[in-house]
Amino acid sequence: MTVRLRALRADITTLAVDAIVNAANSSLLGGGGVDGAIHRAAGPALLAECRGLGGCDVGDAKLTAGHGLPARLVVHTVGPVWRGGEHGEPEQLASCYRRSLAVAGAAGARTIAFPCISTGVFGYPLDLAAAVAVATVREATADLPGVESVTFCCFAAADLAVYDRLL
Ligand code: AR6
Repeated sequence: MTVRLRALRADITTLAVDAIVNAANSSLLGGGGVDGAIHRAAGPALLAECRGLGGCDVGDAKLTAGHGLPARLVVHTVGPVWRGGEHGEPEQLASCYRRSLAVAGAAGARTIAFPCISTGVFGYPLDLAAAVAVATVREATADLPGVESVTFCCFAAADLAVYDRLL
């Protein structure tokens, strides 16, 4: 079955998909941006569960429940900080998408939504990050028969325009 890829402009905390992905930091103990929004919407039980995960490496992903969110699951991944693009950032970002899909798929998620990982506080140029995101998700979902749809959830209209061109 072909996986449906779509992009939309939304607050990811409102999406009623099986799993949303959080662009976290390696502590997994919350922060600003989409991470802050997800923790606020999920409630304090999310932070309590995250405390037991022992952090997360850049490019890896860990799973929690969605708690107060409409999504049943949250996959917490840690994107690379942009340092010019020649310090392994594209490979690390691709790994975030691959590992997040693997973790969500293993938990039975059929519908998954990603924010634009690393493109806020971590400074990854949106157009470069979007190209990595789309190519990696296209490739990785070919090996994940349970996954039906992947949503690229953009916060800004300009970001959505970039994804719309790629999809
Ligand atoms: N829904 C969807 N996208 C959002 C939302 C939202 N509610 N809020 C922000 N974005 P960022 P990063 C977009 O900075 O660059 C945190 O402090 C935002 O417009 O959240 O990976 C963590 O704890 C941007 O396009 O994540 C880490 O320390 C995208 O989400 C650090 O920031 C990612 O921006 C991670 O930095």
